[in-house]
Amino acid sequence: MSIFSFLKNTKTSAPDIGHLKTDVHSHLIPGIDDGVQSLEESLDILREMEALGYEKVITTPHTMSGSYDNTPEIINAGLDKVRKGITSEGLNIKLEAATEYFLDETFMERLEKDEQLMTFGQNHVLVETSFISPPPQLKEASFQLTMKGYKMIFAHPERYIYLLEDKLLLEELIDRDIIFQLNAVSLTGCYSKPVKKFAERLIDMKIPRLVGTDCHNMGHINLLKEATQTKYWKKLLDLDLLNNSL
Ligand SMILES: [Fe+2]
Repeated sequence: MSIFSFLKNTKTSAPDIGHLKTDVHSHLIPGIDDGVQSLEESLDILREMEALGYEKVITTPHTMSGSYDNTPEIINAGLDKVRKGITSEGLNIKLEAATEYFLDETFMERLEKDEQLMTFGQNHVLVETSFISPPPQLKEASFQLTMKGYKMIFAHPERYIYLLEDKLLLEELIDRDIIFQLNAVSLTGCYSKPVKKFAERLIDMKIPRLVGTDCHNMGHINLLKEATQTKYWKKLLDLDLLNNSL
C-alpha cells in the first residue's frame, strides 16, 4: 500500500444524510428555549441543513413548565418570523413547528383537560423525560396519548440513564404504541460514551423509527456531520424509518 492510498483511506467522506429528507427534532425558533437565540443563527443552521440535503425541518422548541412556558401562540409567532427569514434569504427548506413536551404533572393535566396538543405528521407528539429517573406517569401518559388518538414519540431514549439500566422497562416501552426517536449526534459520543453505546444497542435491536438532529446550535450541525462518518450511521439509515413520511 502506497502512502497515497493510506491517506485516501483515512480521509473522511462528504457528510451524507442519505434518504433522510425530514428532520423531526430541533430548537430553531429564536429566543424561546435553550436553542438558537437569534434569527441569524437559525437561518445559518437551516442553510447548512439544506446544503446537507434536508428538505423539511419540523422544529420542536421545549415546553417545560417553569423553565420554558411556551404556548402554540408563542411558537407559531416565532415560526412565522423564521419562515419570513427563509423566504428573504432565498432558501428552499420547508419549516414546520411542533413542540417537545416535558413529561411531568403539567403535561398530565393537559391530557386530563383534553387540551389540544401541538402535533406534527399524523397526530405525533414529541415527549421527553428527565434523564435521571423515569417519571411516575410515563406508562399512564403513553396510555392516555394512545386513547386520545395521539402517537407518542419518545425523544432520544438513548439519553435516559434510567432506561439504560432497566431492561424490563425498555422492553415494556417497546411493546407499547411508542415511536422511539434517536438523536443522530448521540453516535459521536458527544453526550457520553454510555449514551453512544446505548444508541448503538438500540440500532442493533432495530428500535428507532425516527432520527432527529436535536439541533440547538451550529455545534450540533458539526456533530451531525461527524455522526455521518460513524460506523453506525449506515446501520441507522438502513432501519425502517418514518422521517420522510412526516
Ligand atoms: Fe430537544
